[in-house]
Amino acid sequence: MMRIARVSDIAAVFAVERDVFGAHVYPDFFFRQALDLWGDTFFVADGVDGALDGYVIGASGHEPGVMWVLSLAVRGSSRGRGIGKALMQTLLAAIQARGIASVKLTVHPDNRAVTLYRNLGFEVVGEEPHYFGEKDPRLVMELRLR
Ligand SMILES: CC(C)(COP(=O)(O)OP(=O)(O)OC[C@H]1O[C@@H](n2cnc3c(N)ncnc32)[C@H](O)[C@@H]1OP(=O)(O)O)[C@@H](O)C(=O)NCCC(=O)NCCS
Repeated sequence: MMRIARVSDIAAVFAVERDVFGAHVYPDFFFRQALDLWGDTFFVADGVDGALDGYVIGASGHEPGVMWVLSLAVRGSSRGRGIGKALMQTLLAAIQARGIASVKLTVHPDNRAVTLYRNLGFEVVGEEPHYFGEKDPRLVMELRLR
């Protein structure tokens, strides 16, 4: 089940974050503030075991009419079952309902998530070879909603 995140989910979201990204993670307090900043575009997927299967955060920035997919993560044991795609579809529906014109994200060129994003209609609009520092490239992808 995909639903809006709550304050009581923060520890479980952080558990997903550590499962997925290891040591290179957003800190737990970031997620608390993300709720205040982007609470209506911060979704979680409930797992069958009481933990969370994943989360996605959509974030507004300085450009009017543009939102970013800030982070998408599904824990390793829950992958390949459509959860990542469903989280993205839930987020995109919420963004579309707000009348936002464009959704952007960055992704490593070798990440299999590129296929997920392409299948949802995102196109590559740029490539930055040193986005997160020396030799840490990212594709910039965009979905035009209207
Ligand atoms: C990317 C991620 C969120 C996908 O989550 P998921 O729940 O496994 O994805 P889904 O099962 O919804 O699959 C969505 C699409 O991903 C692709 N995909 C899924 N499993 C795949 C696999 N084993 N190999 C290649 N592509 C795969 C397919 O295109 C699939 O679409 P389809 O089922 O219509 O063919 C997850 O792998 C993850 O958390 N990865 C680490 C964090 C990350 O890289 N996040 C994105 C940063 S930009």
